[in-house]
Amino acid sequence: MTDKTFPDVADLTLEEKAALTSGLDFWHLKSIDRHGVPSIMVTDGPHGLRKQAGESDHLGLNASVPATCFPPAVALGSSWDPSLAARVGDAIGREAAIEDVAVVLGPGVNIKRSPLCGRNFEYFSEDPIHASDMGSGIVRGIQKNGVGTSLKHFAANNQESDRMRVSSDIDPRPLREIYLRAFQGVVGDEQPWTVMCSYNRVNGVYASEDPFLLTQVLRDEWGFDGLVVSDWGASNVRAEGVKAGMDLEMPSSGGVTDRQLVDAVKSGTLDEADLDRVAQRVLDLIRKSGQRPAVEGGFDVDAHHALAREAAARSIVLLKNEGDILPLAPTQKIAVVGEFAAKPRFQGGGSSHINPTRVDAALDAIRAAASDVVYAPGYVVPEPPEGIGMSEKKAPKPEQSVLDRLRAEAVEAAAGSDVAVVFLGLPDEDESEGFDRTHIELPAEQLAVLDAVAAVNENVVVVLSNGGVVALPFADRVPAILETWLLGQAGGSATADVLFGSVNPSGRLSETMPLRLQDSPAYTSFPGESQHVRYGEGLYVGYRWYDAREMDVAFPFGYGLSYTTFSYGAPVAVADADGIRVTVDVTNTGSAAGREVVQAYVSVPETSVERPPRELKAFQSVEIPAGETVPVELRIRRRDLAYWEIRTDEWIVEDAAYRVEVGSSSRDLHGSVDVDVAGDAFVVPLHATSSVAEAVAHPVAGPAAREALEGTTFSEIFSLDEVAANPMARSMPLNRLVSFGVGADVVDRILAAGA
Ligand code: BGC
Repeated sequence: MTDKTFPDVADLTLEEKAALTSGLDFWHLKSIDRHGVPSIMVTDGPHGLRKQAGESDHLGLNASVPATCFPPAVALGSSWDPSLAARVGDAIGREAAIEDVAVVLGPGVNIKRSPLCGRNFEYFSEDPIHASDMGSGIVRGIQKNGVGTSLKHFAANNQESDRMRVSSDIDPRPLREIYLRAFQGVVGDEQPWTVMCSYNRVNGVYASEDPFLLTQVLRDEWGFDGLVVSDWGASNVRAEGVKAGMDLEMPSSGGVTDRQLVDAVKSGTLDEADLDRVAQRVLDLIRKSGQRPAVEGGFDVDAHHALAREAAARSIVLLKNEGDILPLAPTQKIAVVGEFAAKPRFQGGGSSHINPTRVDAALDAIRAAASDVVYAPGYVVPEPPEGIGMSEKKAPKPEQSVLDRLRAEAVEAAAGSDVAVVFLGLPDEDESEGFDRTHIELPAEQLAVLDAVAAVNENVVVVLSNGGVVALPFADRVPAILETWLLGQAGGSATADVLFGSVNPSGRLSETMPLRLQDSPAYTSFPGESQHVRYGEGLYVGYRWYDAREMDVAFPFGYGLSYTTFSYGAPVAVADADGIRVTVDVTNTGSAAGREVVQAYVSVPETSVERPPRELKAFQSVEIPAGETVPVELRIRRRDLAYWEIRTDEWIVEDAAYRVEVGSSSRDLHGSVDVDVAGDAFVVPLHATSSVAEAVAHPVAGPAAREALEGTTFSEIFSLDEVAANPMARSMPLNRLVSFGVGADVVDRILAAGA
């Protein structure tokens, strides 16, 4: 502590220290007036500011101050552009600074394990490198303003069902390589001020009191030097949390847990040094937030709205465009069908719900762009009966006669038009924080309207609004589909920008769209039972699963079309100490300027460990003028080449030839190049159950093992030269050799050489 105007933990009483480690109320930390320690405010995030000025709750029920609602992660993730995420983060950080908010509670970098997770709209991806780089962009942007972030929900919080108790039971490799990797990347690259531990348990231990997660992994291995805050109400036994490194319990416990900590220290069940450590981190956070540069004036509402529009347009994924039906011409007669066009669904329900500064409806934007537009709502979007957020309660269905009338009006509008733009999507009541979906179907009444419209007009453009992937039973029957996810407050105008071509679509799927829910990796184990969910698909999450099983999908990871076309030169890969540098020339072969998202997937053909067929390791979104060629450089970080070695509990880069495939999606690879990478030194110590083959091939003990076994009964039966090829001999544990006439002293000699 160098700042003498600010207290150190040594200046505080036991009671003050304990008090600091839990919240004052929903959004504030406690002050210590006699030391001039102020009460700071933390608020949600993640895709805009949700500062509740009056009565507080964390369920998204009470209104908050108006703020720009940027595209939620499901959409922004589709931009595949961390620098765009950083610009969005910068704007959120500025709005937070103006509102005197110390920490924005986001971003969320949990992996989309199942399409059913009710909160997938708050997460970026099914891939950890993608989620990490996008999350890093948000953190970088927000923290530039002297405002902190809270990287959440740490860890393995991949479902809402039973979220406050369920144990995510995960093997070490998928835990490290898939579920923790995104957190590790953001911590390593951007040092978020705080990390929010999740509600759930991980392998049986509450994340909020897990010394493995919160201290060993997060701090000791990754070097995190910030504060760990609990998700709201995630603290279980407070003293256990303190011991594990969970610094701040939120929201308030009404003083109950503060007293527990004081008593625990007094009775000797909690070491005061443990309390000091967490209280000091709270003080450090408060001090750090006090150093935020002063912000003059308000924020530029129009400029932030314009950025929200740009980001939304960049998030739209063009899934299909047969016969180049898009972009639309302003001179066409356009039927707009579907109530979502007039009443957009632009964010998800729950704690991330933002009170937008304004909302653009696509219908208004289409009317502004074209002169001959007819509108028919087609269906009724149900309003959630209890307001937006966390309620599974359904609104009563409209009468069949109402639905019939709305459908007939839609058909009439479509029949007399050149093109029908049909808006379909999930209502709030179908997906929200707090519960998971049970299916991935769009509402039946919407599909019925689409069918009726398609029967009278073949030029149908479907525009989808949804936070999690939906089944597209009509994909073969309509010429064009735009996946617009939940686009934030400017989504309506951004949709028109893409429909009319003032923005050339460049979004790419960061989540596979399966043909059927039954095909998806976690189908048989999600959401588990009896407070346990077993991540049985292991490493095979998302495209890793569909590729390994060579399954057809509706649209693959990384996929998205453009109004132009691109061609690729041959990729070149050079390994260096930092990883692999990949360069490739990409040409815009069409007549419109456009963005291509260049993706590099890596595999190891001669690997000695289990690996998915290919894994995303680097990507870049590049703007390319029509007809031009741009050299694109992708950096694959060495750390991202490593797998988690379970025999020695460490990251290992295998010494091998790595295949780098470069392309426009995980299933549209244009070129491939192999490059040798020097691996990490890696020796597995020999132990009693190591096999004979492992002993003979051991880099240190091999020669001694061979010498010791030479002339024994074992070597008379099995040639030591061929031991690795003999299925029975190669897996013979060393400690069983005594049953085959090999002396115990021989085994001991081998073990000593390889210890
Ligand atoms: C959510 C967090 C959120 C917190 C505060 C919890 O219900 O899981 O993401 O930051 O509430 O609103």
